[in-house]
Amino acid sequence: MAALRYAGLDDTDSEDELPPGWEQRTTKDGWVYYANHTEEKTQWEHPKTGKRKRIAGDLPYGWEQETDENGQVFFVDHINKRTTYLDPRLAFTVDDNPTKPTTRQRYDGSTTAMEILQGRDLSGKVVVVTGANSGIGFETAKSFALHGAHVILACRNMARASEAVSRILGEWHKAKVEAMTLDLALLRSVQHFAQAFKAKNVFTDINDSSGKLDFSRLSPSKSDYWAMLAYNRSKLCNILFSNELHRRLSPRGVTSNAVHPGNMMYSALHRGWWVYTLLFTLARPFTKSMQQGAATTVYCAVAPELEGLGGMYFNSCCRCLPSAEAQSEDSARALWALSERLLQGAPGGPPS
Ligand SMILES: NC(=O)c1ccc[n+]([C@@H]2O[C@H](COP(=O)([O-])OP(=O)(O)OC[C@H]3O[C@@H](n4cnc5c(N)ncnc54)[C@H](OP(=O)(O)O)[C@@H]3O)[C@@H](O)[C@H]2O)c1
Repeated sequence: MAALRYAGLDDTDSEDELPPGWEQRTTKDGWVYYANHTEEKTQWEHPKTGKRKRIAGDLPYGWEQETDENGQVFFVDHINKRTTYLDPRLAFTVDDNPTKPTTRQRYDGSTTAMEILQGRDLSGKVVVVTGANSGIGFETAKSFALHGAHVILACRNMARASEAVSRILGEWHKAKVEAMTLDLALLRSVQHFAQAFKAKNVFTDINDSSGKLDFSRLSPSKSDYWAMLAYNRSKLCNILFSNELHRRLSPRGVTSNAVHPGNMMYSALHRGWWVYTLLFTLARPFTKSMQQGAATTVYCAVAPELEGLGGMYFNSCCRCLPSAEAQSEDSARALWALSERLLQGAPGGPPS
């Protein structure tokens, strides 16, 4: 083809060869269209293949795109001091496959974290993952690290954390992973972690973080304590806290969403009681894998459509409405106020 020969790039794709009288041109924004000089008509579809195409890549070195007085795009080859109406990038077109609108969501409960990150380059991003030495946290950390992010595994047990770092490096020796000490049950440790993280001078975009909530029952006496109930209350607090954190920090560009990873996934969560181990073992064939459990967290962290959005709750990569209590703004504010009160005067907490 003349344009390609002119640019020194002969087209070898004979299927794409135009019938006599046709010429291909490009619009300013990179779409290819076809002009028939005999019939004096233009169309978007290739006259033989019916495909629509777009230009891919930049103009060759020394070339510039300009517009003539009729608004038609032409190209200047400054090195050879010539002009042409034919785009030299026509050698590098890609098919434009218009995807049919679909009502099916892109990701669901079977999607894995690695699938969500497929093709993503997260170099330059810093991700802090808590609870990263096992279960869902580990898969989350590994998935981010294998896609180029600098991942900090924030764990209370350095031996287990170092082992997790080694496992990730075993999968990709260039992964940028490191362990830092953080025991979320000790305020002093949280403070040390914050200081050590700040001293690193890196900025993080991504941090990992479900009946009626009776605030007086958040720390019940030993005789009133039932692990399952305490666990459920803690999950409700997770959502309320995430919502309030988002309300307070979103004006400063920090967003927060709450996620539900799945049910009874076979992590280390059941280790506290043999009955749980039995139940988790029985449920294992029917529950999500760790990779699937990590997917919703990873989705919320990187989805371009969620950029700048927060205060929401996600399950299986899909926005859902949590219980009415979890949506309560009053409870979210009250939980925040209670947290502040508990911190006042606590060892390692802010001074009263
Ligand atoms: N598995 C499920 O079916 C399921 C379902 C719904 C929600 N979730 C939630 O998903 C999250 C991860 O659970 P998982 O299933 O992956 O459980 P997991 O394997 O037991 O992992 C929990 C992680 O949290 C760490 N951790 C616990 N207490 C900590 C503390 N005080 N400071 C710092 N780190 C601490 C643990 O570290 P150590 O190794 O040092 O103990 C471990 O790395 C939990 O919030 C869980 O409630 C899980």
